[in-house]
Amino acid sequence: MRVGVLTGGGDCPGLNAVIRAVVRRGVAEYGYDFVGFRDGWKGPLEGLTMELGTPQVRGILPRGGTILGSSRTNPLKVEGGVDRIRENLAALGIDALVAIGGEDTLGVATALTEHGFPVVGVPKTIDNDLNATDYTFGFDTAVQIATEAIDRLHTTAESHHRILICEVMGRHAGWIALHSGMAGGANVILIPEVEFDLDEVVGWIESRFRATYAPIIVVAEGALPVGGTLVTKDTTLDAFGHVKLSGIGDWLADQVEQRTGHEARTTVLGHIQRGGTPTSFDRVLATRFGLNAIEAVKDGAWGTMVALQGTDIVRVPLQAATGALKTVPVERYEEAKAFFG
Ligand code: F6P
Repeated sequence: MRVGVLTGGGDCPGLNAVIRAVVRRGVAEYGYDFVGFRDGWKGPLEGLTMELGTPQVRGILPRGGTILGSSRTNPLKVEGGVDRIRENLAALGIDALVAIGGEDTLGVATALTEHGFPVVGVPKTIDNDLNATDYTFGFDTAVQIATEAIDRLHTTAESHHRILICEVMGRHAGWIALHSGMAGGANVILIPEVEFDLDEVVGWIESRFRATYAPIIVVAEGALPVGGTLVTKDTTLDAFGHVKLSGIGDWLADQVEQRTGHEARTTVLGHIQRGGTPTSFDRVLATRFGLNAIEAVKDGAWGTMVALQGTDIVRVPLQAATGALKTVPVERYEEAKAFFG
């Protein structure tokens, strides 16, 4: 059996741990051959490959990023894209494909499965917004990084009696903001799922100053005020139709500074949340996903994705993971609100 492996979409700590587990078990247990596809779906589309075997995966467990490279290439938007992938896979003698990605990459995997391609999916995203899995790997690392940043912001905010705003990633889902804000003791957490009322935010800030502490606000990049619109970097769209977010933190700083008279500054964590070494939780989760993905290949379980449910790794239909996003439930946000203000 010859197995192709690709990583697509935004990179994420733990990708290399998955690749390592897939290859190590595939080689040792089943004698499979591997082909690494470069840069997400661009690899199968353009026939861009690299050697992938035990020597290539040595030492990569703790390394951030992906040795295969990544991209947001969408072959479904390319004229004849599906046929080109079919021809390239046939020419390379590929019998199975392991696609490691988030909603976009696995959305393509779902469509290709419907065209008869032998694909198994592995869920990745720091945003933790893929359905049918309790957690995606990369999320724990992103939360850890954001929490550390919030801890540091507390002491400098208090020294200067300032409002400090920490903008974190999270386009449609506020999981990173919710978890890092709770872990870091933020006074206000704003997420895309719940439009915020600026007057209420100002009230929480003033109450925090009255208690002689400095307010820390954690805001997800996709959060928006009641009746407002998304703050974006520019108007360009990627191949999956996404705009580049970021800017809500600065917008909010202006607003609250004007309304409270207190100085407000913003820190945008950006790609720092995605870079560097994965936490031990993410290394273990990614490794278990990889081991189970190669089992799914051995069983010919095409069109499935490995998922974490409770403490078990299970297989779910790719469609279940990509059909709808897993957003923060209102009751989880209500829990966090106990500490606002
Ligand atoms: O992977 C998803 C994500 O982390 C989003 O939260 C964010 O909007 C996006 O990646 C940004 O990625 P890039 O800068 O690579 O386009």
